[in-house]
Amino acid sequence: MRTVALVVVFLAGVTTAAAAQSALKDAYKADFVIGAALNEAQITGQDARGDAIVEAQFNSISPENCLKWERVHPQPHRYDFSIPDQYVAFGEKNRMFVVGHTLVWHNQTPDWVFRDGKGKLLGRKALLKRLRNHIYTVVGRYKGRIKSWDVVNEALNEDGSLRQSLWLKIIGESYIAKAFRYAHEADPTAELTYNDYNIENEVKRAGAVALIKKLKAEGVPITTVGIQGHYTLDSPDLKLLDEGIDAYSKLGVKVAITELDVDVLPRKNLPVTADIAVNLAQDPALNPYVNGLPDAVQQQLAERYAAIFEICLKHRGTVDRVTLWGVTDADSWHNGWPIRGRTAYSLLFNRAGKPKPAYDMVIQETGR
Ligand code: XIL
Repeated sequence: MRTVALVVVFLAGVTTAAAAQSALKDAYKADFVIGAALNEAQITGQDARGDAIVEAQFNSISPENCLKWERVHPQPHRYDFSIPDQYVAFGEKNRMFVVGHTLVWHNQTPDWVFRDGKGKLLGRKALLKRLRNHIYTVVGRYKGRIKSWDVVNEALNEDGSLRQSLWLKIIGESYIAKAFRYAHEADPTAELTYNDYNIENEVKRAGAVALIKKLKAEGVPITTVGIQGHYTLDSPDLKLLDEGIDAYSKLGVKVAITELDVDVLPRKNLPVTADIAVNLAQDPALNPYVNGLPDAVQQQLAERYAAIFEICLKHRGTVDRVTLWGVTDADSWHNGWPIRGRTAYSLLFNRAGKPKPAYDMVIQETGR
């Protein structure tokens, strides 16, 4: 027994030492780029420890919030590029693949966008003009520098139909094609993505496939499908991810996993979603790991991450990027969603900035 235990300790030590010398971006160099979403503290240099992890481990970055409409264009005649400029400069300094997120969404978009000076809903033409100006201004500013834009985010309902957002209500379904065309006009070299959650799942996937087919048939310049990848320990069945990547690949688009994380916290009866509008009541029973994650769950998390990367590796060539939605567990949006004030363990680095067993297993998955 004792020998076995010693061997296990020894092997664990070797694994960690190997991981300390390795980097995600190097392990996956031949396969796809590996990204992380950056928050404001990381973009502005206030989180030096986080920045060091990003620089050592990742070769792509996404902006967690700073390029969303409410941040970059808070008022009709005011754009705020102070944080986005630093974000893009950070990526360029480190020769990273810089992603833009997101141009058209129903969330984190100010209400004035859809209204005239008197508060009345705009007509189709006026809203299209506003959308074009926004896209030309934001995409145009970073032309040739932001390499990939999430053009439209979350346009689909769970049943695969189009979400009844104000974009759809006012413009009609052509808002999607228009947004892609405007983005392409503003930067013809940028990759352009349709990004959504749960589009692995069969019913919603059928809606996404139909949408992308239609866009392609109309000559709309879409290059990529972004599968957000906000997962839990047991959902979705990864067979759906495997099939989903296949289905999108057959349409002639690339696939990126754009917002990967794995929530280990209980969700009660909440169906798996990434709808940021959800806000459930706090309950200590739903925040079970305040003092640390039990080893068994840590191991489950590691295996889950390894299985996700195994599928991405299988589809190398179609999957050209896997981006984690945050750097350390302390940064994860799961600390505040779908319930405020919880202690989340969704990412590959712990609160001390150290690689977790999940990190080691993701590295080992490449077999290099
Ligand atoms: C989240 C951010 O992580 C949070 O900081 C913010 O409060 C809400 O939005 N899908 C998306 C992302 O496309 O933009 C969301 O990001 C997570 C779900």
